Amino acid sequence: LSQHTTEVASSPRARITRADLLESFSRVRQCSEDICKPLATEDYVVQPAEDVSPPKWHLAHTTWFFEQVVLDRFEANYRPFHSQYFFLFNSYYQTFGDRWERPMRGSLSRPTVADIGEYRAAIDQRMREFIQRVDEEHWPAARDLITLGLHHEQQHQELMMTDIKYILAISPLNPAYVESAYSPAKSIPEAEFIRFSGGVFEMGTDDNDGFCYDNETPRHRVFVKDFQLMNRLVTCGEFLEFMKDGGYEAPTLWLSDGWDWKIRTGRRKPLFWESVDGVWHIMTLTGLRPVDPDEPVCHVTYYEAAAYARWRGKRLPTEAEWELAATTVKASPEHGNLFEDANYHPIPCQPDSGTSGMYQLFGDVWEWTGSAYLAYPGYKQETGALGEYNGKFMSNQMVLRGGSCATARDHIRVTYRNFFHCDKDWQFTGVRLADDT
Ligand SMILES: [Fe+2]
Repeated sequence: LSQHTTEVASSPRARITRADLLESFSRVRQCSEDICKPLATEDYVVQPAEDVSPPKWHLAHTTWFFEQVVLDRFEANYRPFHSQYFFLFNSYYQTFGDRWERPMRGSLSRPTVADIGEYRAAIDQRMREFIQRVDEEHWPAARDLITLGLHHEQQHQELMMTDIKYILAISPLNPAYVESAYSPAKSIPEAEFIRFSGGVFEMGTDDNDGFCYDNETPRHRVFVKDFQLMNRLVTCGEFLEFMKDGGYEAPTLWLSDGWDWKIRTGRRKPLFWESVDGVWHIMTLTGLRPVDPDEPVCHVTYYEAAAYARWRGKRLPTEAEWELAATTVKASPEHGNLFEDANYHPIPCQPDSGTSGMYQLFGDVWEWTGSAYLAYPGYKQETGALGEYNGKFMSNQMVLRGGSCATARDHIRVTYRNFFHCDKDWQFTGVRLADDT
């Protein structure tokens, strides 16, 4: 969010009206509640792993964002909805003071799911009134903060999908979130490596055209050597060859930290895979079913992605290579298996879905890159609480690109940088290979 850039009156951001914002606000807020509709009350509350927050917490925390970051800042003498909610539902903002500890989110039976529903309804009402009432002087700053709050909520919607998946998958009953409409493609394109010409490439954005996060700025020049990028994602069938070849047992394929992680966790397969009578099955949001060899492999850590690439004699792309390739072929989120497509799982590569011979750049799975998550040259972290949104996480994490089957279509773009620690596997994370020329 670039509040520091000079506003150009004709820019798309400046043209957002109060009616536009009210419409986006209602739509995004409703989406979070729609995601929870298939849940039983018990599903809202538990936290089976530290990274997996209860859906109830997500519903409250996204509301807290609007209450503390917008209403409490702009409304004179603002009276919070509840005296404890700023403490309970702050996630990681030191600027806003103490908070309920993250590993303990699932230990709270109160406030109840119904209480959180009332909290959402009350803040929604206050926010609608605020959007209509805020004076012209404060409108640009308020509009930008609310827009950030909506993108923040969309990020949490993806987390809700993956957290709900984890919550359901931990039960031996293998409950489905929704029934499947899954029908695999007849045949997927052969894996090919497409050559891209490097040179001086301008990556990132200056946010002159619309919304972006501060970590995508500023637009800057990088030098990229000529490279090759796989035309589609690595499939489960291809990953299974690595497993059958003893890939998990071969120390020379693994990063040192990855080998230690593997020993520590005993991991020998992607998350959510299990062998049923000698046949590999996969737990999905539509329940447990046999692994389809043509579907993209997902829920792999950076360590597994890197070991697989090494086994194939390839490497992971850098984020500059990914962005250059996606820009060159004019890849667009319009063509991708994203949240709105309601598959809630990566699907086999559709032969008619590519642009210039490249497939699946947007959607299906977040693609691990070999790039550390760092500030771009010239990056200016926001001051105050918003500086905590992205900048403070710029150590020990890797960049992922392209969005997943749980990412909203209007949330992802070619410059978007996601980031996770190397051992994280509960997001829809997968692999695309790269090579030198
Ligand atoms: Fe958050």
